[in-house]
Amino acid sequence: MQKGFWGKLNKPILGLSPMDGVTDASFRFITAKYGKPDVMFTEFVSAEGLCAGADVLLKDFIYSEIEKPIVAQVFGIVPEAFYNAAPIVCELGFSGIDINMGCPDKNVAKRGGGAALIKNPNLAKEIIIKTKEGVRDWAEGKKLEEFDLPKNIINQLRGSTPKLRKKIPVSVKTRIGYEKIVIKEWVKHLLEVEPANISIHGRTLKQMYAGEANWDAIAEAAEIIKKTETLVLGNGDITDLASAKKHTEKYGVDGVLVGRAFFGNPWLFSGKEVSVSEKLDVAVEHAKYFEKILKGRKFYNMRKHLAWYAHGFSGAKELRIKLMRAENAKECEKIIADFKKY
Ligand SMILES: Cc1cc2nc3c(=O)[nH]c(=O)nc-3n(C[C@H](O)[C@H](O)[C@H](O)COP(=O)(O)O)c2cc1C
Repeated sequence: MQKGFWGKLNKPILGLSPMDGVTDASFRFITAKYGKPDVMFTEFVSAEGLCAGADVLLKDFIYSEIEKPIVAQVFGIVPEAFYNAAPIVCELGFSGIDINMGCPDKNVAKRGGGAALIKNPNLAKEIIIKTKEGVRDWAEGKKLEEFDLPKNIINQLRGSTPKLRKKIPVSVKTRIGYEKIVIKEWVKHLLEVEPANISIHGRTLKQMYAGEANWDAIAEAAEIIKKTETLVLGNGDITDLASAKKHTEKYGVDGVLVGRAFFGNPWLFSGKEVSVSEKLDVAVEHAKYFEKILKGRKFYNMRKHLAWYAHGFSGAKELRIKLMRAENAKECEKIIADFKKY
């Protein structure tokens, strides 16, 4: 098994969970700077979209070195698309590639991807195998032009080839079931094709984000996975550093991924209490970096982060209303400077 960076991480492994529309290059950079997780993931990116030449998706694969180890997450249903998307991830120098088998979104799951793969273990295994083959062939020297990739994608990747072509690990992020809990049978399928890590969100697809994450189900899966070389991370409803560590111990996982508790709180894994002033300074830094690194992306994508930073202190609501009208980082900086004067 290709464990790559996963084999070098100290336990408990504390990771930032992938979140579409949230964990973009700007948020990950800020998080790496103020409360570095042991591992981070990109937002999920369509394997088929990349293979069809949707080069706008490459924006989701922007990262900076301080985020490493950084894993690119990919979703889809066509094994061949994963074979061809894998070398893109390798070429960009990512630490690993993760396959999304947990997304409940209608657009993804209705087509048979994301969490719907739980109902189709043979296809899921084929996808993992093909991804590994793409990584292997690239590492053994196969050129991008020899994969079935459109020219516009290849052109954009030119110049990013890492000096060393090394095999990167392939992992999976999933849920405990589709309609009902089937995690024990499901992980046995996944283990047949030896992913380096399995991250498990303790809800079924049907639950979406409702109810509580079922950590007992995660623990049952962990018991099975622990008998193999594959690592297991639990995920769902963790609110702070202390509960991240407690869950790791209590439920027998190698670590955890945390998602929503990071909203407006890139310091989460530092365990640090930050002042309102510090929080707002980082909001401005984040907004500026968003504009710099994700040139051309509409500023409204940044506004939800601003709303999360402006939360939980006196005057936050009024500040939030103003920030929701900010058209750019400069306006955001001015609004916050005015707020801090009073
Ligand atoms: C806004 C949002 C976007 C998400 N996007 C992704 C994604 O792109 N890939 C993925 O595997 N999971 C995605 N998830 C699921 C999270 O990674 C995580 O599994 C879930 O939020 C439960 O963890 P939490 O309780 O710590 O938030 C997303 C969740 C949210 C709230």
